[in-house]
Amino acid sequence: MLNSHSFPPLVIRGRSLLPIVQGGMGVGVSAHRLAGSVAREGALGTIASIDLRHHHHDLVERCRQSPDTATLEQANLTALAREIHLARMLSEGRGMLAVNVMKAVSAQADYVRVACESGADAIVMGAGLPLDLPDMTQGHDIALIPILSDSRGVALVLKKWLKKGRLPDAVVIEHPAHAGGHLGVGNLADMHDRRFDFLRILEELETVFASLSLNRQDVPVILAGGINSHDAVRELLSAGANGVQLGTPFAVTEEGDAHPNFKRVLAEATPEDIVEFVSVTGLPARAVKTPWLMRYLRHETKIRAKLGVLKHACPTALECLSACGWRDGIEKFGHFCIDTRLAAALRGDVANGLFFRGREALPFGAAIRSVHDLLELLLTGATRPAVAGRWAYSLG
Ligand SMILES: Cc1cc2nc3c(=O)[nH]c(=O)nc-3n(C[C@H](O)[C@H](O)[C@H](O)COP(=O)(O)O)c2cc1C
Repeated sequence: MLNSHSFPPLVIRGRSLLPIVQGGMGVGVSAHRLAGSVAREGALGTIASIDLRHHHHDLVERCRQSPDTATLEQANLTALAREIHLARMLSEGRGMLAVNVMKAVSAQADYVRVACESGADAIVMGAGLPLDLPDMTQGHDIALIPILSDSRGVALVLKKWLKKGRLPDAVVIEHPAHAGGHLGVGNLADMHDRRFDFLRILEELETVFASLSLNRQDVPVILAGGINSHDAVRELLSAGANGVQLGTPFAVTEEGDAHPNFKRVLAEATPEDIVEFVSVTGLPARAVKTPWLMRYLRHETKIRAKLGVLKHACPTALECLSACGWRDGIEKFGHFCIDTRLAAALRGDVANGLFFRGREALPFGAAIRSVHDLLELLLTGATRPAVAGRWAYSLG
């Protein structure tokens, strides 16, 4: 555990944590090993709920034998319950364990239910406005944390939740110009809009909270996207943030749950290797220009013109998204199977995978280091020599 740093703790639902949060990363990139290791250090570790069956050989085998939607969905719910249990054991009861659920996913309500029943400490919901999250978790003592990208979104959630008698236990503000994965902006051309500036949002939130007769400090604010140094952490925490969330730097740690090739692709990417595009969810996303993505983007206009409005059977039978550009024939969305591509990346298939990544350089450059070393660097600025070979990778 890391105790020697000078920042105030991030307090969520009465629990004192390190002010560094590990963001949820699907498919399978943040499962029990990463989230449990982060929690063990006394921070908030997040399991991404989507399609976790890939980490369980018996579940993959069951799905291969009965490749229907019900079997796949059940396998994922079983995998989520197992991952929460394993993360809890690894955490040795320290820190906090969250489950990330994307609003855009069809099985969102089931993932939330299993997270609550399996003893997760928090639900973190993004990729859509989580207006009904308090109803979905009624009767459970669990922290609720929406992911938003501007102060207007925070105001909307606060107003809606106040009517239900609930305040968020924290909010994550994710900057679309820097973060990895899906981005909370309708149009890519808008991602540098000043309404996403962290310092401006912190200022605007004072007014939003005051207008609702609330105190800004009633709801911890966690900033995410491109945070990659001790200086950045210090600057944002002294500007009024209560915590910062990182994704890419945790994905490439030794404890990260993806294949070593996945970590290498992310860690070795230069700024020219990173691209924004429209995902099958209709949201923009940011990833590394690996061979499959380059090929897709080269043909995107042609694919859209030829196949854009055609409906297709879901290639995996998982029906993972409530609205999918490929399955539902939504012309302006992306047109590929995101689940197949993300699962390939998790396995380290560089030729065929989709490798989500944030825009900025990483704290340790291309080096793969431990969760402890990353937290220590972010909180104290100190780096110590690497110790090799602490973790081995396994799927299933
Ligand atoms: C590989 C990868 C997968 C991600 N998957 C998800 C996800 O499933 N759900 C989610 O809310 N955010 C997801 N994110 C966003 C992260 O949780 C985090 O907020 C973001 O990456 C922060 O930006 P950074 O990568 O610059 O630190 C993903 C990011 C990456 C890099």
